[in-house]
Amino acid sequence: MADTEAFIKKYAVDRSGTNSLKWDALNERYGDPDLLAMWVADMEFKVPEQVTAALTKRVAHGVYGYSFTPDSYYDAYFSWQKRRHNIDLQKDWLRFDNGVVNSLYGIVNTFTQPDDAVLILTPVYYPFHNAVLDNHRKLVTSELVNQDGHYEIDFADVERKIVTENVKLFIQCSPHNPVGRIWSADELQQILEICKRHNVLVVSDEIHQDIEVGTKKFVSALSVAKGAFQNNLIVVTAPSKTFNVACLLNSHVIIPNPKIRQRYDAGKTRFNETEISVLGQVAAEAAYTYGDKWLDQILQIVRDNYTYLRRELTTKVPGIKIADLEGTYLTWLDLRQVVPAGLTKEFIQEDCHLAVDYGQWFGKRDEGFVRLNLATNPKLVHKAVANIVAGLTKLQADHTSID
Ligand SMILES: Cc1ncc(COP(=O)(O)O)c(C=O)c1O
Repeated sequence: MADTEAFIKKYAVDRSGTNSLKWDALNERYGDPDLLAMWVADMEFKVPEQVTAALTKRVAHGVYGYSFTPDSYYDAYFSWQKRRHNIDLQKDWLRFDNGVVNSLYGIVNTFTQPDDAVLILTPVYYPFHNAVLDNHRKLVTSELVNQDGHYEIDFADVERKIVTENVKLFIQCSPHNPVGRIWSADELQQILEICKRHNVLVVSDEIHQDIEVGTKKFVSALSVAKGAFQNNLIVVTAPSKTFNVACLLNSHVIIPNPKIRQRYDAGKTRFNETEISVLGQVAAEAAYTYGDKWLDQILQIVRDNYTYLRRELTTKVPGIKIADLEGTYLTWLDLRQVVPAGLTKEFIQEDCHLAVDYGQWFGKRDEGFVRLNLATNPKLVHKAVANIVAGLTKLQADHTSID
C-alpha cells in the first residue's frame, strides 16, 4: 500500500492543458469541457523514469533523421515477451508499424477484397468495425454471450457465420476490449481450429497482453497448442497501452508464416510505406528493459481501482452489473436495470458529469453499457463512482416524484 501511494505521488499527473484528447477535447467530443474524463484508453501516469531518461538523451542529440531498428531493440522486446508471457519470437517474423489500428486497416486491405466478409466478436473496440466498413468489406459479427457479466464466445455461431457468410478474415481482440476477458488456451484453440478448418486468416490484436489484472495469465495465439496455429496467424501488439506511449507511434506486426509475410510486405509497399518511429523505439526499448516494476505497480492500481468500483457500485446501486475484469484496464458497466432505455448518455453526462465510452460504440445491441478507464489516479475513480451513486439517487428520486 505504501508502495502504491509513493508510486502515485511520483507518477500521477494532471494532463489538462497538454492537448490531451481525453482531457482537452471534452467540449468538442461531448459538448461539455467540465466532465470527468474516464474515456480513451491511456493513463494519467508518467512513463517509467528510465523511459523519460532515454527519450531526453535521444532528444538532446538534436537530429531525428531516418533510422533503423538496432539489435538491442529486438533483444529488449523478445526478452520482455519471453519473461512476461513465455513467447518465443524470431527477428524475421517482425515488422514495425505506426499503430495497431493502422495495421488492422492494412491487413484488411491486403488479405481481403472489396465485399469479402470479415468477422469480429461484438461488443468490441470500435476501430475493428471501422477497419472493415471503411474498406468496403462486409462486416460479420458474432455476439459474445453475456452471462451475468462474464462473456463467452458462441463457437457454434462463429462457425455457422464463417460458413454461411464465406468469411475470409477474423479479427480477434485478446484480451478483449471492452468486456475484459483473457481468453483461455482452450477457448483460443477452439476458435483457431474453426478458422483453420475453413481457411480463415486470423489477426490477433494482443495490444492489451500485459494488462493482467485478475488471476488469469494472458495466452498469445502464437503459443496455443505449442504454436500449432502460427501458420494461419498475424499478431499485432504495441507498447502503447502497457507503457502509456500511444502517440509515439511504434507498433509490432508478427507473422511467422513466410508466405503470409510476403503478402503483407507486398501490401505495405502499396499503401503504407512509413518509416519507424525513432522516439517510439527509444521509449519502447527502455520500457521493455526497465519497465517491469513500473508496470506491476500500474497493474496493482488498476486492480485496486476495480475492486473499489465493484464493491461500491454493487453495494450502493443494486441492479448495476459490472463485467469480470481479467485483462485490460477498462471496466464495462451494464446500466440497463438502473437507467431507463435510451437515457444512458443524458444520465452519464448530465447527472454523473462523466465522459465515458458508450456501449453502442462497441456493438449495435450495447446501448445501456458504458466503459470506464481505470488506469488512472484512484482519486478520480473515487470521484467517478461517487458521481454515479449520486446520479442514480437523483434519477430514482426524479422517477419517484413523477410516479
Ligand atoms: C484492442 C485495441 N487495439 C488497438 C488500440 C489502439 O492501438 P494504436 O493506438 O496502436 O492504433 C486499442 C486502443 O485502445 C485497443 O484497445
